[in-house]
Amino acid sequence: MKPIKILVFTLAIAFMASCTQKTPFSGKWYGSQFGCLSEVEFSPDSTMHVTSEANSSYNMDMKFVATPDGNHYNFDPVGGIQGLDAKGVAEVTPDGTLLIGINLGMGTEAVRPGKAEECKGQLLGVFFELVRDRKAIHSATDGGKDIPAEAALAFERNKRLGHGINLNGFVDDNPEDGNNAPMSAADFKSIADAGFQSVRIDTKWSAHALTVPPYTIDPAFFAFMDDVVANCFNNNIAVSLDVHYYPYINMSYPDADGLSWEENIERLKALWRQIAEHYKDYPNDMLFFDPLNEPSVELGSERYNGLISELIPIIRESNPDRTLIVMTPSQGQTWTLGELDLPKDDWNIIVQAHYYMPHTFTHNNLAYAPGTMGMPNTWEGTETEKAPLLKDLDFVSKWSKANGRPVNIGEWGTTATVDPASRVRYFTFMNEELDKRGFSYHIWSYRGVFQLYNGETGLWQEDLLKAIGQR
Ligand code: GLC
Repeated sequence: MKPIKILVFTLAIAFMASCTQKTPFSGKWYGSQFGCLSEVEFSPDSTMHVTSEANSSYNMDMKFVATPDGNHYNFDPVGGIQGLDAKGVAEVTPDGTLLIGINLGMGTEAVRPGKAEECKGQLLGVFFELVRDRKAIHSATDGGKDIPAEAALAFERNKRLGHGINLNGFVDDNPEDGNNAPMSAADFKSIADAGFQSVRIDTKWSAHALTVPPYTIDPAFFAFMDDVVANCFNNNIAVSLDVHYYPYINMSYPDADGLSWEENIERLKALWRQIAEHYKDYPNDMLFFDPLNEPSVELGSERYNGLISELIPIIRESNPDRTLIVMTPSQGQTWTLGELDLPKDDWNIIVQAHYYMPHTFTHNNLAYAPGTMGMPNTWEGTETEKAPLLKDLDFVSKWSKANGRPVNIGEWGTTATVDPASRVRYFTFMNEELDKRGFSYHIWSYRGVFQLYNGETGLWQEDLLKAIGQR
């Protein structure tokens, strides 16, 4: 995941300001972020407190100076935001909505926006649209939904996934933590012996299919995958078949495979028609379909929901009873759960989100995660470190209960280069908290940069297996 935008929102640095102000916007307001509720409170000491129900890294306390200027206020975070100069405006509209727009200056002074709305959707901007009435804002955890008895099946199947691991870069080269050495029958046995109940096979199906209609998947590749699945089943390992690194959608690849956006969407549907047809007779409690890894932020939730609503019926034509593992929008985050729109009459779905917080630790010093460079590679497991993570996981749990959908954390883990003792602490903590909430999971990953298993020495990271209760 690439949280540049998130960082802009989140790592607001609070500085001291001495002024005390009363503005028309003092007190409590409510807003929505990724379909989830945020509470914003302006206190008399000119501090803005933001609390997000879904994403603890959006929480912030920020000192500001508000200066009346015509029909709005100039709204300036004291000390800027994340070390960047910040200038904004705040206005209460005639219908009582509070709009705050803040521009950030990258290396230069920020330019004050003329209207708050100008900052909406800007990478170097922050925008808040807030109302006084809490009930006017949808909370993804609002209860009162009608959950049928048939919803229980997906919860049952989720138990079968249990503790799992991602077989990244095994079928295909992983562009980010490259590792495409082949696996042998011994690898699958070793995964089962290490106590894993399932694997997620991260597969770039598009690399094995025609780029022109009917986008036929290479029969030799199907034969290869059949063999992989057979190896898993022989070891009693359940399988999630994942479409990973999908052009445009997954990793924002430009000009992928020389196809247009629309053609790639058609191709994805054609791939799923074939995969679903090919595996339709495989046992439903052992084989799961994961239609699309981490849909990009660019795709957005509306288009993603639209895509899912087309893919699911295609799969259902041949697999009426298959359990699907559907990701949340905008890079598969936990805090985008509130934007996921699943078919109302299909309950055979496990919802998948990835969780890598704190990102600066889990992705420490990776070239594709520039915000982590030079950040601490330790995690002590203090109450302060645990609190935001617990809050996020509690949100997922509440969402799952309120919506009657089981949850799979389809990726979590850390690079193998972080401080070893911290990694053990983090694994112990995450495993316990995910288990406690009844989520299944797939650790990222078997081999490669995030590895639990060293392909060269043939050895597992025993202390991590112990940390997750499998040794
Ligand atoms: C996502 C990416 C993968 C990366 C992993 C950890 O699954 O697709 O390339 O290695 O997250 O960042």
